Amino acid sequence: MSPERILNVSNLDVHYGRTHALRGVSLSVGPGEAVGVIGETGSGKSTLARAIVGLVRPSAGRIAIDGEETTRYRARQWRELRRRGIVQYVFQDPLRSLDPDLTVEESIVEPLLIRGRSRREAADRARELVARVHLDEALLSRLPGELSGGQRQRVTVARALVTDPRVLILDEPVSALDAANRVRALRFFQELRDAGTSLLFISHDLGSVAGVADRIAVLYQGEIVEDGPARAIVNAPKHAYTRLLVGSAPTLRSAAAARADREALRELLQTIGGPAQ
Ligand SMILES: Nc1ncnc2c1ncn2[C@@H]1O[C@H](COP(=O)(O)OP(=O)(O)OP(=O)(O)O)[C@@H](O)[C@H]1O
Ligand SMILES: [Mg+2]
Repeated sequence: MSPERILNVSNLDVHYGRTHALRGVSLSVGPGEAVGVIGETGSGKSTLARAIVGLVRPSAGRIAIDGEETTRYRARQWRELRRRGIVQYVFQDPLRSLDPDLTVEESIVEPLLIRGRSRREAADRARELVARVHLDEALLSRLPGELSGGQRQRVTVARALVTDPRVLILDEPVSALDAANRVRALRFFQELRDAGTSLLFISHDLGSVAGVADRIAVLYQGEIVEDGPARAIVNAPKHAYTRLLVGSAPTLRSAAAARADREALRELLQTIGGPAQ
């Protein structure tokens, strides 16, 4: 495994009892690179994310994070790795991943307080992060149950960013958002990537992934059936399943074009009222 990759997965197999959820999956993410993983429901996308962060144990294969092999990590080593916050996983279901009894502010600052930072420093950082994910500061005192799905999703992203991760795994980060918020979120992920955070962007929607990812891997029934530069996947899909995805996403070519031409995306954002900077 090459050490300059932030994330390296090779020949990964995951079983849940008799279900063979991942078969020989190999994938790598370099510094500041955004890699998309697309696949239909049940294809193994969340399983891949969970394996990378140590929430499910692979039956075969290897995983390395920031040059360090984690495949045979024990619970204590996982705790230490999580404490360092190098890799952060934003769960598919934000309600499940937020403590219902903690306010937005408490959720966001928790990882910092665990690391021994002062309350004052943590509170400042929470303010900075909610602004960064375009959330109203007034929401800091709310409980997760008092937020919309899209707002909750931004809280989980803010919380993940609090440790300055080198790689962020986003599991269906825009599926619950309406069109305007989806464009805003995608733009935010592009900015993150441009600022050097590596992304593993998981979605069933090729159109969303194509706007952010440099490379795309197509997962089908637990196997990567195709991977390559985003543009090649969109413009010349090889596998039948990928062709189906491309064919069923009418806005896809324009999304890919927008990625190639940032100006076009900026204009689009201005038209629909993009985020205040
Ligand atoms: N904890 C579990 N126990 C048993 N089987 C599981 C478990 N989690 C997932 N599976 C099975 O593994 C396969 C892959 O599931 P996974 O959640 O990774 O799919 P996914 O691609 O994320 O789907 P979705 O798009 O619906 O989120 C599915 O067949 C699923 O039923
Ligand atoms: Mg999933």
